[in-house]
Amino acid sequence: MALRTSPEVGGMGHSIKRKEDPRFIRGKGTYVDDVQLPGMLYLDIARSPFAHAKITRIGTSKALAIPGVLAVITGQDLAKYNLHWMPTLMSDTQMVLPVEKVMYQAQEVAAVLATSRYAAADGVAAVEVEYEPLPVVVDPKKALEPGAPVLRTDKKDKKDNHIWHWEWGDRAATDRAFTQADVIVKQDIYIPRIHVASIETCGCVAHFDKVNDKLTVWMTTQAPHAIRTVFALVAGHVGLAEHKIRIISPDIGGGFGGKVPVYPGYVIAVAASVLTGKPVKWIEDRMENLQADSFARDYHITAELAGKKDGTLTALRIKTLADHGYADAAANPSKFPAGLFHICTGSYDLKAAHVEVDGVYTNKPPGGIAYRCSFRVTEAVHTIERMVDLMAHQLAMDPADFRLKNFIKPEQFPYKSALGWEYDSGNYAGALQKAMDRIGYTELKREQAEKRKRGELMGIGISSFTEIVGAGPSKHFDILGLKMFDSCEIRIHPTGKAIARFGTKSQGQGHETTYAQILAEELGIPAADIQIEEGDTDTAPYGLGTYASRSTPTAGAAAAMAARKVRDKGRKIAAHLLEASENDLVWEPGKFSVKGAPAKFKTIQEIAFAAYTNHPQGMEAGLEAVSYYDPPNLTYPFGSYVCVVDIDKGTGEVKVRRFVAVDDCGNIINPMIVEGQIHGGLTMGFAPALLEEISYDEIGNIRGGSFIDYLVPTAVETPKWETDKTCTPSPHHPLGAKGVGESATVGAPAAIVNAVVDALWHLGVRHIDIPITPPKVWKLLREKGITE
Ligand code: CDP
Repeated sequence: MALRTSPEVGGMGHSIKRKEDPRFIRGKGTYVDDVQLPGMLYLDIARSPFAHAKITRIGTSKALAIPGVLAVITGQDLAKYNLHWMPTLMSDTQMVLPVEKVMYQAQEVAAVLATSRYAAADGVAAVEVEYEPLPVVVDPKKALEPGAPVLRTDKKDKKDNHIWHWEWGDRAATDRAFTQADVIVKQDIYIPRIHVASIETCGCVAHFDKVNDKLTVWMTTQAPHAIRTVFALVAGHVGLAEHKIRIISPDIGGGFGGKVPVYPGYVIAVAASVLTGKPVKWIEDRMENLQADSFARDYHITAELAGKKDGTLTALRIKTLADHGYADAAANPSKFPAGLFHICTGSYDLKAAHVEVDGVYTNKPPGGIAYRCSFRVTEAVHTIERMVDLMAHQLAMDPADFRLKNFIKPEQFPYKSALGWEYDSGNYAGALQKAMDRIGYTELKREQAEKRKRGELMGIGISSFTEIVGAGPSKHFDILGLKMFDSCEIRIHPTGKAIARFGTKSQGQGHETTYAQILAEELGIPAADIQIEEGDTDTAPYGLGTYASRSTPTAGAAAAMAARKVRDKGRKIAAHLLEASENDLVWEPGKFSVKGAPAKFKTIQEIAFAAYTNHPQGMEAGLEAVSYYDPPNLTYPFGSYVCVVDIDKGTGEVKVRRFVAVDDCGNIINPMIVEGQIHGGLTMGFAPALLEEISYDEIGNIRGGSFIDYLVPTAVETPKWETDKTCTPSPHHPLGAKGVGESATVGAPAAIVNAVVDALWHLGVRHIDIPITPPKVWKLLREKGITE
């Protein structure tokens, strides 16, 4: 994209430094735990050691005897106000504190309120809870078997653990295509439970001001406005009306979807503050965060892909069990209980597809959230990219050639997929070709053949993913009935500086910089002169928040639209100042000039000053605008990743030797920020591919509940990423931009798995579930008799 502004103005395409970084790198950010209020109390939570158990007694006297402990709050206490249960974002229900039984290990059982964090923790240790263990169900397949213990006994009519069945696509056409297929590949794929493990855990400071009858909550939320509305709907009956609630989402240390849900700790802190009239702080520790907050993935997939002998793909059929833990608390659009899993036809021109998903209850924490992905697109991409690779290997075709043959072609866009999505734009072959050239694909193939002769294990894997980001459009997308648009409000001050506020909330993505760049592009006001604010419901326009890479497609577009409204008024003011007709004015970033007389112009700063000092008679003073942008479609970023792995036959360790990522997110606002997003995203894709997993033993004890065994990669394990890009603008976004924050997390795991399977295919290995840990690989190599 050609630059339209100077580096000093810093519009689109400039890698200007992040405006937020001076405070972050100096340790001067304001996170929730930095909020200190006079007289603040502290909350800590006692949690269940059992995965399923009846609570027979909660003894509070020992805890209350500890100096500084003021109260022990139980489910019975909340039940008096009907606050012991709360709705989830998927219209299910979830306990705030239990009255009868606990449903997973680490579930909240009671909360201790104290004058210090230490006293609260001592109080938690002294709460005496007696349990009567109940049968535990951790396997969703077993949970559906006849005779399995029914978990949600609170739902009077519930006779099993099945939550919902959802299907999409043309079953008959798909079945027909399978009957006519020359080749079918079928694979069970498990995408395990993982956790976002953001640097900052969750927490809040709730302050109910009894004098002004106003509740202010500083909280780690990615969606402050939606939270305010949910609080008002849930607690309206105890007097918390929406105009009496202010949610402030200050600096956030990573969200990745994990800070979208409402967790019990928030609600208990609010209740404690309302009852005491004192500010109450609740901050999770790391183990609480890993063990009790919403998880991601946990999809048990059976996929089948059909094709012709010549390698033409024809149809896809998928059945999935979605393990939601004890409550369906996924943060999905209401209409789609399996999120956007039906983007699973990916980058390929498949004529028929059918998807079925069944949600299941088990004794695990509720979920699942969209971990750095647009509502289950990671699961979809993993499935199709594994299946395409399987088919290519099955047909003894090169996986790159196979993809190039089956890609949706550039001239087919806008492309309607078999599952109903309208892809906006793409050039999949262009991205794959660039990645292959960059990595030296042909040479690598040669090297692999030679190494194989020597018995060495080297694999090359490709993932050519298509993402789907930017929910709305609001006609299809809502969360709990709240339509998914987003917003920008901009005010230009008399001296030409500006403030703009948004309904989204950055968690490290750099919105303070990139939104200012969009406005700089549209108005010519330097990005440095524009202050960006998000995350305060008392000041920002209503919006649905930041997750699923939706900020650029929605709020970014709203910024452009609001700026264009400002420009429209600016044109009238300029015409008045230049004594010219509006139609005779031409705009270039930063000024209006008279057509044919370029020396006669007014800068945006002069126009802003006139808006307050010399505006035309009859015109309202001021220069400001607001836009609530409802996107006409989603955006479909894409990319091709090529990965080279070497496998150590002595240890089973997979070493990612090279990884080339070519991404396309349309027009780019800030190339440096986009590269940073991709580097971080790739690391968050590498992690579940090789390291991270949360699993449970048969009685529901969590494995992976601390950083001792939940293996987040450090700089030591992380490969050196090689990035590149192509640019295929979105035809419907006002800036031609698509979202990008999640692309790499979505696309990377399949490239790594495909490389590992490629290295082992000649030994008869067809699939390995992630994470591909050294013991898993070593066991396989031992079975094949080739360990060293
Ligand atoms: O919703 P979220 O901010 O997580 O995701 P996003 O819209 O994909 O944007 C992530 C970051 O990359 C933001 O700072 C965007 O403004 C920036 N970005 C960009 O500079 N150019 C794009 N085409 C897309 C995103």
